[in-house]
Amino acid sequence: MAIQKLKRNVFSVGSKHWDRRLFDELIPLPDGTTYNSYLVEGSEKTALIDTGDPETLNDLFENLKNHNITKIDYIISNHAEQDHSGGIPDVLAKYPEAKVVTNEKCKKMLIDLLNISEDKFFVIKDEETLSLGDKTLQFFLTPWVHWPETMVTYLKENSILFPCDFLGSHFVSSELFVKDEAKVYASAKRYYAEIMMPFRKNITGHLEKLQNLKIDMIAPSHGQVYDKPKFILEAYKDWTSDNVKNEVVIPYISMHGSTKKMVEYLTDALIKRGIKVKPFNLTVTDIGELAIELVDACTIVIASPTVLTGPHPSVVYASALANMLKPKAKFATVIGSFGWGGKMVEKIVGMLGNLKVELLSTVMVKGFPKENDFRALDNLADEILEKHKSLDI
Ligand code: FEO
Repeated sequence: MAIQKLKRNVFSVGSKHWDRRLFDELIPLPDGTTYNSYLVEGSEKTALIDTGDPETLNDLFENLKNHNITKIDYIISNHAEQDHSGGIPDVLAKYPEAKVVTNEKCKKMLIDLLNISEDKFFVIKDEETLSLGDKTLQFFLTPWVHWPETMVTYLKENSILFPCDFLGSHFVSSELFVKDEAKVYASAKRYYAEIMMPFRKNITGHLEKLQNLKIDMIAPSHGQVYDKPKFILEAYKDWTSDNVKNEVVIPYISMHGSTKKMVEYLTDALIKRGIKVKPFNLTVTDIGELAIELVDACTIVIASPTVLTGPHPSVVYASALANMLKPKAKFATVIGSFGWGGKMVEKIVGMLGNLKVELLSTVMVKGFPKENDFRALDNLADEILEKHKSLDI
């Protein structure tokens, strides 16, 4: 791939992974991704910010060669996860005079993960600066976006923030800068939902800290560069706020039609009450789409048939995922069907311990739903409406 210029002597030199479709063997990537590395050439020193994934390291080396880079003084490591740090040993082998600049916690993780020798590091503290001559880097520790050692790098003279994973998106384009904000908004929201949402409270603090900086450009290590950064900063403020929307998410499975009928009935009942609702049939759901809807939803209704004595395994997976992602939903409940018994409700509720939700009425149906079961679903829809109204949404 080609080198792309952000500002004078500041370049994107990383790699685009057009056809990657799964991340961490877990996260669907419908739009591919990028592993961005940035080269900052000061009048005296040259820094490389993040090295990208080992799988695509050839792109980085080709870019550095084409740019006639014979010396790198600093490799800035914002995050120890291997899609940003995995290339460091190879870069050190090619540029042996380089020092790896990072915080103490990240240094320890890089030693554990990549076996880099201790004398290769230059350890910085929060808000410390590093001069490259006519350019100055400043480092801000931003733990838990999304690992404990994460930090961001700020290029003072150009007002560019390099936040690594934070504020990024799994999105690939030949264009360096964001042009289609709607498209990138959707990708960035998916990325936030899948990776950052569990750390909502940490992010709120980081956003406040960064408010004191003049930021003209945000150059993350996944996705395009934001040359109008207000858009992504405002989106993050909204997603991480405590505000929920008048929305219900219903992840469900149905084996013989009973639970499906209940979900369809409840969906219609909620629509009639003016509530936005999104049912997800888990047999065909892109789990990222479910995660996106969990960002804003006020209520989660989990729906399952009873398999042996508990929920369907796909519902177990979705419940575990929702619990891991810690969405800000205020209410939750369980609906479903059974043939002869079981403890499905208790088992699902037991899996949602991370959620700070009030549990609403459950509706469990023996066999196919009947008239009184539909009345119970109407009552649940009324209850959801009242709860949402109580929040003024
Ligand atoms: Fe893009 Fe946490 O790695």
